[in-house]
Amino acid sequence: MELRLGFLASHNGSNMQAIIDACKNKTLKSKPCVVISNNSKSGAIERAKKENIPYYHLSSSTHSSEEELDKAIRDALKSQNVNLVILAGYMKRLGPHTLKEFNNRVLNIHPALLPKYGGEGMYGILVHEAVIKAKEKKSGVTIHIVNSEYDRGPVINQVEVPVYENDSAETLAQRVLTVEHQTYVETIKKIEEEKIKL
Ligand code: GAR
Repeated sequence: MELRLGFLASHNGSNMQAIIDACKNKTLKSKPCVVISNNSKSGAIERAKKENIPYYHLSSSTHSSEEELDKAIRDALKSQNVNLVILAGYMKRLGPHTLKEFNNRVLNIHPALLPKYGGEGMYGILVHEAVIKAKEKKSGVTIHIVNSEYDRGPVINQVEVPVYENDSAETLAQRVLTVEHQTYVETIKKIEEEKIKL
């Protein structure tokens, strides 16, 4: 199945870039159709410009009403006929209008083995700091379907990553991020091939 991908990303967008690269080198059949960021200065928007992908800055500074922002996000995705929404380091919650329109068609990546180290306030480097503090021997990557419960939607792929004794949050983050890039691409490929059914 050919997928039309819509990305939401807040910061660097390296996961998004890994997926775009996989589309360009034909590892994936999918097409990156739109990039939405809540951060006008994000790496994700810079990457969209470079790749000639339509992009939108949509945030509380462009839409003061939460409901209007939610509808604007939904409409930006619909305008490009997106049929799979990829959260790639998106640090905001999606609203009910977007979730209803793309029911079971929104994926998120989380840099730990959910349900551990997930939920409100657990994102980015904070996740890795918590894993190191708890002296875990393993962490990993989780890809799940997004529903209205934060970090709690059905898990569709999970890959373990070792934690070493001398790891800092930063060295662990780097090791996990490399696996994130591979895992996101592999997961989308399985959705294309209908080996994972959403
Ligand atoms: C990634 O590690 C992703 O798993 C994490 O933010 C980073 C974004 O990196 N997401 C979360 O913590 C979501 N709760 P990127 O912008 O380079 O793709």
